[in-house]
Amino acid sequence: MVSEQIKRNRQSWNVVAHHFHGVDALPRYGPFAQTEEELGLFGEVKDKKVLEIGCGSGHSLHYMREKGASELWGVDLSDEQIKAAKEMLQEAEGKLFCAPMEEEIGLPKEYFDYVYSIYAIGWTMDLSSTFKLIHSYLKKGGVFIFSWDHPVYAHLKSQNGRIYLDNSYLKEEVQIYENFKGENASLFIRNRMFSTYINELIHAGFAIDKVIESDVSKDHDSMDEEESDRYYSLYKARRFPATMMIRAVKK
Ligand SMILES: C[S@@+](CC[C@H](N)C(=O)[O-])C[C@H]1O[C@@H](n2cnc3c(N)ncnc32)[C@H](O)[C@@H]1O
Repeated sequence: MVSEQIKRNRQSWNVVAHHFHGVDALPRYGPFAQTEEELGLFGEVKDKKVLEIGCGSGHSLHYMREKGASELWGVDLSDEQIKAAKEMLQEAEGKLFCAPMEEEIGLPKEYFDYVYSIYAIGWTMDLSSTFKLIHSYLKKGGVFIFSWDHPVYAHLKSQNGRIYLDNSYLKEEVQIYENFKGENASLFIRNRMFSTYINELIHAGFAIDKVIESDVSKDHDSMDEEESDRYYSLYKARRFPATMMIRAVKK
């Protein structure tokens, strides 16, 4: 079941990949969210080995390269994204793998200083295995940072000046996004509660170092915030965090 969903998601990500080139990439953590320049979650990455989960078009790895990371590794489900990332990184010799984050693919263990993921973790169909694998890739004391939709934000709608909860936050289930990005692509996604992310990190062996429910980035200070019920809207993001970021450490 899960492997069939991953297989179908791969086909769909290949169709929609071009919509995501550099869209959610460092220094940005996500739509309207505070940036790495505002938050400084990474600290020094010079000469550090980094691995990105769901590396997409490679823009965040490129950012890491500019910051002096010594090794750039990336995993993404989509062949199209990996192709784009190879072009993006070119002479930087990133080690890029087209594979599901849920699967053991022989990446080195106890090797990375940082594993990070920008708006990709929530696409996993198996959060528990994904976090355990990420934990295994890190050196002791290594850091895992990820950003994703705030699990409550994903349920918020706005209408007539009010923001309300749509559907049950408590139901964790697989949903299908049909015609994603207006394309002939259906994507499976599992919604999860905030506590599920925290508990799965703890079960994988992480110590949680920082949890951020992001404010809107200063970059949007001058933007109008008309009421809108678009999934990502500045109106909603100014009233409830659209993005969460979590920094966890391998004990
Ligand atoms: C919103 S994009 C994030 C893009 C990325 N941060 C960037 O800078 O381009 C989500 C990415 O997750 C990848 N993805 C989705 N499901 C995945 C899975 N199960 N394993 C690995 N990557 C996955 C998609 O192919 C896509 O590139």
